[in-house]
Amino acid sequence: MLLEMKDICKDYPQGKEIVHILKHVDLTIDEGDYLAIMGPSGSGKTTLMNLIGCLDVPTSGEYLLNGENVAHASDNHLADVRNTTLGFVFQSFYLLPKLSARENVALPLLYAGVKKRARNRRAEEALQMVGLGDRMDFMPNQLSGGQQQRVAIARAMINKPKLLLADEPTGALDSTSGHQVMDLFDELNAKGTTIVLITHEPAVGARAKHLRRILDGELLAEGEGGVGDAW
Ligand SMILES: Nc1ncnc2c1ncn2[C@@H]1O[C@H](COP(=O)(O)OP(=O)(O)OP(=O)(O)O)[C@@H](O)[C@H]1O
Ligand SMILES: [Mg+2]
Repeated sequence: MLLEMKDICKDYPQGKEIVHILKHVDLTIDEGDYLAIMGPSGSGKTTLMNLIGCLDVPTSGEYLLNGENVAHASDNHLADVRNTTLGFVFQSFYLLPKLSARENVALPLLYAGVKKRARNRRAEEALQMVGLGDRMDFMPNQLSGGQQQRVAIARAMINKPKLLLADEPTGALDSTSGHQVMDLFDELNAKGTTIVLITHEPAVGARAKHLRRILDGELLAEGEGGVGDAW
């Protein structure tokens, strides 16, 4: 088992009130899994993803990631866990505009203290893997949206994370580029990367091995929530 969340709640203060955003979430993900999470806007998807991704801590509950309880870890330790275990892809690609594709992909290695030659070699391998071997020196504004997202995926994969987290990775893409990104996710998953993605698009959700729906902060069991809903 790669991760296990038990009875996770997340509350936010709202003036004098407390709003319950995530309500008693239980979630288990095995190594090699590929899970899609779907739900209406405001249902708590990003909040849950931020907890899975150690960008935030729960109000209550237990979170075991890679055998370690991270529910109460310090910010520094969470940063370590993120750098060593997790990769992130977002709807807006968050590439640095003044760095080339190669430099963007190599950036996490710079922070990890890897020497320049090794950084470049690994960034080039990662860009080959996402089909951008011929775009290494292009700047983000010289790349299409789909290509930029593939650069972002190469960057997320550069430290060989166990778990790749993607929040609406195809949300800003046309359908052809979206398909390419989903093909890439299939390949990464086939090679052993565990994936959790959030999507609004049923066709995207259907490509994962498992689909869970979240409704008003409650994560439904697999198969619950039905098909054919507006979301
Ligand atoms: N820092 C915060 N403080 C207070 N409330 C918050 C905070 N972050 C999120 N919320 C609330 O939590 C709820 C869930 O937000 P979240 O971003 O998880 O939704 P979502 O399912 O990702 O929606 P979308 O599909 O629009 O991205 C919303 O009602 C939001 O207002
Ligand atoms: Mg969201």
